[in-house]
Amino acid sequence: MKSFTKLVFTLYLIFLCIAAAGHNGKNHAEVNIEEPKESFEKKNLKSINQEYVLKVKPIFESKCFDCHGINTEKPWYYVFPGIKQMINHDISEAKEHMDMVNDFPFGGHGSPREDLEALKETVENESMPPLQYKIMHWNSLLTKEEKKIISEWIGEGLKKLPNG
Ligand code: HEC
Repeated sequence: MKSFTKLVFTLYLIFLCIAAAGHNGKNHAEVNIEEPKESFEKKNLKSINQEYVLKVKPIFESKCFDCHGINTEKPWYYVFPGIKQMINHDISEAKEHMDMVNDFPFGGHGSPREDLEALKETVENESMPPLQYKIMHWNSLLTKEEKKIISEWIGEGLKKLPNG
C-alpha cells in the first residue's frame, strides 16, 4: 500500500513537470517569434513616415491634399450647381482609395506596400491629379524634381516593407 502511494505521487510529479515544460515551451515560442516581428514592422513604418513628413508631405500638401487630405478651401467655381457634387464625389472617392490625413501609413483600402506601389504607378504615369483637376490647376502637375523625391522615398519604403 505504501509503495502504491509512492508510485502515484511520482506519477503526479512527472505529470506536473511535463505540463510545466509544455507550457513554458509555448510561451517561449510566442515571445521569440511574434514580438520582435511586430516591433520590427512598426519601426520600419515609423521610419518611412519620418521621411514622408520631412520630404514628401510638403509636396502632397500643395498638390494632392485638396482631395486626399485636409485642405478645406474650395475653388471659386465650387458654388456652381453640379460642380460642387462633382468635387465632393472626387474627394470622397480619393479618400476611400488613399486617405493622407493621418500621414503614413495612409488610410483607405490598401496595405502600406499596396499604397506605395499605387503611388509609384501614378507618379510614373502622371495620372494624378486627375485630368479635370489639372486643367483648372496648371501648377498641380508634379515637377521633375518632385517626382524624383517621391520616387526615392517610395523605393526606400518598399525595401523596408515585407513582401506581399
Ligand atoms: C481632384 C481630386 C484629386 C487630386 C487633387 C488628387 N487625387 Fe489622387 N485620386 C483621386 C480620386 C477621385 C481617386 C480614385 C479614383 C481613381 O483612381 O482615379 C484617386 C486615386 C489615387 C490613387 C490610387 C489609389 C489606389 O488605391 O489605387 C493614388 C496613388 C493617388 N490618387 C495619388 C495622388 C497623388 C500623388 C496626388 C497629387 C500629386 C493626387 N492623387 C491628387 C482624386 C484626386
